[in-house]
Amino acid sequence: MQTATIKFEKFQSTKDDDCQARILAAREKLGKRLVILGHHYQHESVYRHADYTGDSLKLSKYCESLDAEYIVFLGVHFMAEVADILSRPEQIVILPDLAAGCSMADMANLAKVERSYRELNKVLNFDEEITPITYINSAADLKAFCGEHGGIVCTSTNAPKILEWGFKQREKVLFFPDQNLGRWSGHKMGIPLEQMPVWDPDQPLGGLTVEQIKNAKILLWKGHCAVHQMFRPQNIEHFKKLHPDGFVISHPEAPFEVCLNSDYVGSTEYILRTVSEAPPNTKWLVGTELNLVTRLAEQMKPQGKHVQFMSHVVCECSTMARIDPQHLAWCLENLAEGNIVNQIKVPKHEAELAKLTLDRMLQAS
Ligand code: 13P
Ligand code: SF4
Repeated sequence: MQTATIKFEKFQSTKDDDCQARILAAREKLGKRLVILGHHYQHESVYRHADYTGDSLKLSKYCESLDAEYIVFLGVHFMAEVADILSRPEQIVILPDLAAGCSMADMANLAKVERSYRELNKVLNFDEEITPITYINSAADLKAFCGEHGGIVCTSTNAPKILEWGFKQREKVLFFPDQNLGRWSGHKMGIPLEQMPVWDPDQPLGGLTVEQIKNAKILLWKGHCAVHQMFRPQNIEHFKKLHPDGFVISHPEAPFEVCLNSDYVGSTEYILRTVSEAPPNTKWLVGTELNLVTRLAEQMKPQGKHVQFMSHVVCECSTMARIDPQHLAWCLENLAEGNIVNQIKVPKHEAELAKLTLDRMLQAS
């Protein structure tokens, strides 16, 4: 039987321990009707409740085959949108706090992408010469834009493979919103930096000359992740001085010079797997979000592995951190009472076009 929606204010001052007990009780009540997905950047206090964990690619794949009625996403807004697009229409996707966005995803919006489309059409024929590729860290309407213009989605795991796909369709790529992932992936394919200029969507012709646009292979959107942007090559130099036998592993959202000076570069799942499978007593400097690194450091201690966060000045991803035990307890208690709160529903037309690009990605990778 449905009761009135429980207001979040009731949970605001509820202690973490009480929330944990309430989460477990609600889960018990919901049973198999509920599945919880958790991204690796989530804080331990909620991550522990995830049935499945992963990077963006792995979590997207799970969404295609889940049976549960409710999918609660411990992550950020674009991830919940992907879950909604890839799950069945009758399944309900919930993001415990709607303010959990991704500041990088917000650096590209449809108005700016459409303006860039018009600007580029002044110099080239966009639909014949440019494949638009959006990083999965983007709103659903941008994925739909790519669907409409012969483009595709990529993740941190498959970006070089997806770029190859893009170049098979057309000779140039517009890559948004993360310039660092685009630059690193292009570099891995052997594309020189001068053929990957930064496209500033707020400038006429992206702030480039006609010649620069014509010479470009990849136009890199002027966007970045505020968390990864803070890592510095000096952090690596310092670590290598102290631990000459140590290894450095970074996420491709980190600046180019950091990736260049790292021993390994890859997605969150790749980072976890590489360090977990490394020999005991090895030393690691890790350039990605703090919650992941803290958890990994704890897990690796029994094997004598030293796992260190790359920077002293970077903190956790503040939007990922919005998903806390209070919000999780609140949305699960509502679900257990038959009330749906914070549902993420992508409009049908947009979802169809966005799904086209996600399917292209899943096929190509
Ligand atoms: P992954 O797909 O590697 O988990 O990355 C997602 C993300 O937001 C990194 O900042
Ligand atoms: Fe977005 Fe950066 Fe947070 Fe990842 S770490 S969710 S890219 S703001």
